[in-house]
Amino acid sequence: MDKLNIRGGHRLSGDIIVSGAKNAALPELCAALLVAGPVTLDNVPLLQDVATTLKVLRTMGATAERSSSSQPDQVLIDASTINTPEAPYELVKTMRASILVLGPLLARFGQATVSLPGGCAIGSRPVDQHIKGLQAMGADIRVEHGNIVARAARLKGARITTDMVTVTGTENLLMAATLAEGETILENAAQEPEIPDLAELLIKMGARIEGHGTHRIRIQGVERLHSPSVAHRIVADRIEAGTFLCAVAATGGDVTLRGARADHLDAVIDKLREAGAHIESGQSAAGEDWIRVQSEGRLRAVSFRTSEYPAFPTDMQAQFMAVNCIAEGVARVSETIFENRFMHVNELVRLGAHIAVDGHTAIVEGIPRLSGAAVMATDLRASASLVIAGLVAEGQTVVDRIYHLDRGYDRMEAKLRGVGADIERIKG
Ligand code: EPZ
Repeated sequence: MDKLNIRGGHRLSGDIIVSGAKNAALPELCAALLVAGPVTLDNVPLLQDVATTLKVLRTMGATAERSSSSQPDQVLIDASTINTPEAPYELVKTMRASILVLGPLLARFGQATVSLPGGCAIGSRPVDQHIKGLQAMGADIRVEHGNIVARAARLKGARITTDMVTVTGTENLLMAATLAEGETILENAAQEPEIPDLAELLIKMGARIEGHGTHRIRIQGVERLHSPSVAHRIVADRIEAGTFLCAVAATGGDVTLRGARADHLDAVIDKLREAGAHIESGQSAAGEDWIRVQSEGRLRAVSFRTSEYPAFPTDMQAQFMAVNCIAEGVARVSETIFENRFMHVNELVRLGAHIAVDGHTAIVEGIPRLSGAAVMATDLRASASLVIAGLVAEGQTVVDRIYHLDRGYDRMEAKLRGVGADIERIKG
């Protein structure tokens, strides 16, 4: 297993190019199942989860490849050759987001067999809302031998109110509704920016969608969708951008994130400013979005609680906790979305952090400095938190099991080295 070897204490300065969003790429790759023809996506990040999704699509009989070495961030999918509308356990168990093939397969083929995703480190991650919504659209869904077995001659539009805001639940139902008969209204829909980005791709494919990005999405089903006439460029990854903002805030320095949209990170930027970081943003003459972060001296501890977009994202909780570990004062961090998303705490404590967990709240008492140690990644965003902590800890930090990191960060160590971090990958 690969490890990251980090020697802390270096300020970061320069530019980082932010990649396309993992949590937009995964549903958009699955959206290609809705049409019998080519779909080209640009700005597709080089991630393990993307590679897994391409493999799932290929096992069904689709073409799903990166276009060429000259365009490494472009992917071409052609689902006209699908012969097996199934997602096997061997693949789904490695990536829960494979559930996102369920809606498209059911809508286009009238059937789907998708392994019921297990839980993961951060929680049980049920998919009951996905199933409830598809049943409301007329699907016959049973769970047999660990598989979701779904059938529907043709889905019918329905008004669906999910019990809670669910990002992939909204995405699955949105994709299914594009080919349903009649109108579907998704109440209590998720508003994360990856959803409007998915909707824009579906609209380029001929879908009729309104209200994407709000809590009410209205879809008029159509008979069939068509290949987009142009490639769709995936929105920048706001969580990758937020992760680098936290890294620079903690280490001190001056870094510009190119391609990142500040309007997708309001809650995180507000909290970093409250902590004492200086952040500005804009667009270049060429129309490229950018966010610049400058940080000098010790930050102030800042309390926050995670919630659905546009509030503070749960995917940034671990990273901002690392910032609080070395800030001045005490911070209360509340995790309201997942039941077990504090596994980075024990590893941060190994680096000297003073953190006490009480249920869904962690109390972080900032100290002047952390001390390097061997630590172990437990999940994707916990890995990022440990990298940030390693960048500020005195001496050497070795982060093990970074296959977690590789699922969701595109060449992170190269990007950090490019702005002055002392970090290298140890092949294991
Ligand atoms: C998406 O997961 C993201 N993944 C997660 O990012 C992110 O943390 C999460 O949304 C919340 O923003 C992708 O987009 C691929 P949910 P998702 O359904 O859709 C409960 C990362 O680090 N729930 O919005 O699985 C659920 O247990 C990953 O990039 C049900 O009970 O999350 C949770 O408590 C981690 N039943 C809450 O809702 C359901 O059917 C929100 O989950 C669905 C969800």
